[in-house]
Amino acid sequence: MRPTDNTVAVVGTGYVGLTTGACLAQLGSTVTCVDIDVDKIERLRLGHLPIVEAGLAEIVRDMSAAGRLHFSTDPTESVSGADVVFLCVPTPQDDDGSADLSYVEAAAASIGPALKTGAVVVNKSTVPVGSFHVVSDALDRTDVDVVSNPEFLREGTAVHDFLNPDRVVIGAESDAAAAAVRALYESLDTEFILTDPASAETIKYAANGFLAMKVSFVNSVAAMCEQVGADISSVVAGIGSDHRIGSEFLKPGPGWGGSCFPKDSRALVAIAADHGYDFSLMRGVIDINEQQYERMVHKIISALGLFEHDRLSGRVVGALGLTFKAGTDDLRESPSLRILDELRRHGAAVQAYDPTTTGELNAVQRDRLAGYEVRGTAIDAATGADAVVVLTEWPEFEELDLGKIADVMRGDTLVDCRNLLDPGEVRAAGLDYDGVGRR
Ligand code: UGA
Repeated sequence: MRPTDNTVAVVGTGYVGLTTGACLAQLGSTVTCVDIDVDKIERLRLGHLPIVEAGLAEIVRDMSAAGRLHFSTDPTESVSGADVVFLCVPTPQDDDGSADLSYVEAAAASIGPALKTGAVVVNKSTVPVGSFHVVSDALDRTDVDVVSNPEFLREGTAVHDFLNPDRVVIGAESDAAAAAVRALYESLDTEFILTDPASAETIKYAANGFLAMKVSFVNSVAAMCEQVGADISSVVAGIGSDHRIGSEFLKPGPGWGGSCFPKDSRALVAIAADHGYDFSLMRGVIDINEQQYERMVHKIISALGLFEHDRLSGRVVGALGLTFKAGTDDLRESPSLRILDELRRHGAAVQAYDPTTTGELNAVQRDRLAGYEVRGTAIDAATGADAVVVLTEWPEFEELDLGKIADVMRGDTLVDCRNLLDPGEVRAAGLDYDGVGRR
């Protein structure tokens, strides 16, 4: 993409900030990514990325070399020349499900005095509806506009999603501010939804809530299939082909997780409640997801030949997949870990394999996986196991040598929480098979 004369600063270089900064540079802007983490910025300057994200390292390398992407620990210097400043800092969750805005407020307060007149501050962090006022207040500037421009990036395909969006949502109170943000994305062939800030903030929560609802719905239908003797794959093919329903986000699994759906669905309920509306549908979506984790735990316990309240002491579970989905190293709110934690609480020993935990574990992995026996291959995880459980849909699990798995196991059951394997092939290898909603 040809360089433009747009100058951008991105405050916060996590998943969203780094992807946004690198991709905006790719689209032509000159971008400075700022973070208070000195070590992270030093490493980024050397081309070392703190996250696993397909295609991101190449863009960071190329844009840095082209002089369009810079890294800094100095927010004042970085934002002072910027036309547009993106806030991409975390919004963790308080105990009541509401979003903690302290990072957003602190970031806005720290850059406020340094902004040039007419600058536009864009909130990309997912914040409760109305938070653009919080950002405005913290900036304490009457000559600067605040715009909401939510992100819809999926971990693992964030670069692709950024460069090929279904839409770009811009919520602004002034046309000039909306135009300044739109200009950064102008080279994309996409639909622009121009609206007010409160609507833009609502779109983000409603989109994630709807997607979570689809997955909870299909998981409920899968539970029903098991009771009535129907097959979820056929049911999904049958309903997904109706274009009003659509076939995406209808894969049954162990429940949804990750850093966004759990946080945003709880926030949606909390925001609605704050404004006097009981969003009971969304509460149900969350409850069903919690039940799905439990259903998987019960499946595995019964695959071990035991009952719900039996202790699992002495039983060994070989777990395949730890991340919340394939294509990421993110363990946050991973359904795999929720399920395995519960099995361990019942007394089971878990030996786990995940393609992202084969080398030396990083600090986050060490912390979250403390007490887990992490093995180097799927076969190692299966060795001596009474049951093998597929928890994350990593493509390499579709290529498992099932005969070998059966040989090294102590037991003879495989539970496929992602419906990844062909039940016939698993049975042909001499193993019992149980999936989700499959006959
Ligand atoms: C999600 C949204 O898809 C993005 O659009 C959004 O920008 C992002 O949250 C965010 O708010 O930042 P992500 O958390 O990366 O992206 O994960 P998804 O790919 O949406 O998957 C969420 C969960 O649903 C995973 O646990 C996944 O395994 C599960 N899932 C998804 C299913 O069980 N079945 C499906 O058919 C689809």
